[in-house]
Amino acid sequence: PLAPARDALARLILDVADYPEPGVVFKDITPLLADHDGLSAVVAALASAGRSGADSVVDKVVGMEARGFILAAPVALSLGAGFVPVRKEGKLPRETHGVSYSLEYGEATLEIHRDAIAPGDRVLLVDDVLATGGTARATQQLVEQCGGSVVGVAVLMDLSFLPWREALGELPVTTLMTV
Ligand code: PRP
Repeated sequence: PLAPARDALARLILDVADYPEPGVVFKDITPLLADHDGLSAVVAALASAGRSGADSVVDKVVGMEARGFILAAPVALSLGAGFVPVRKEGKLPRETHGVSYSLEYGEATLEIHRDAIAPGDRVLLVDDVLATGGTARATQQLVEQCGGSVVGVAVLMDLSFLPWREALGELPVTTLMTV
């Protein structure tokens, strides 16, 4: 099920030179999102990470702000699961768990509503990109603070020159494109 999604990524993701700063090549996923066949193919491929055979093995799909939201919600529907947002600090209105992690310069904090994941829930994480893996690792910790367990991470693309694998240890990762 991954081949049509990989074709769509190769065709529909645009490289933007020198954005957001000189020397960086930004991967713009908006043409992929705007294409119905491409979007369907990537949602189906990401959802396959939450299935064993034909059966869904997840209770919740967590998307990380902001691009993760776009992909995680349709993946959740496809798996018969609920969608849960992990957000940047201060955006969620009720009681949260928070995890801080290091960025290249400084720190960031991600939050989840404490009651969003029930103890024992099996959770798939969905995002657009794995880079350092800091976002996915912090999100895994948030799910575990709620008493849930992460069964895997599914992303459109991974940046192979960054150490995301070290951050995530043995966690199963489904990636549709390696940069
Ligand atoms: C980007 C991307 C991932 C994260 C990956 O989000 O969408 O969530 O970085 O990087 P990491 O593996 O090094 O943690 P960003 O923080 O730019 O947020 P945005 O989607 O709100 O722009």
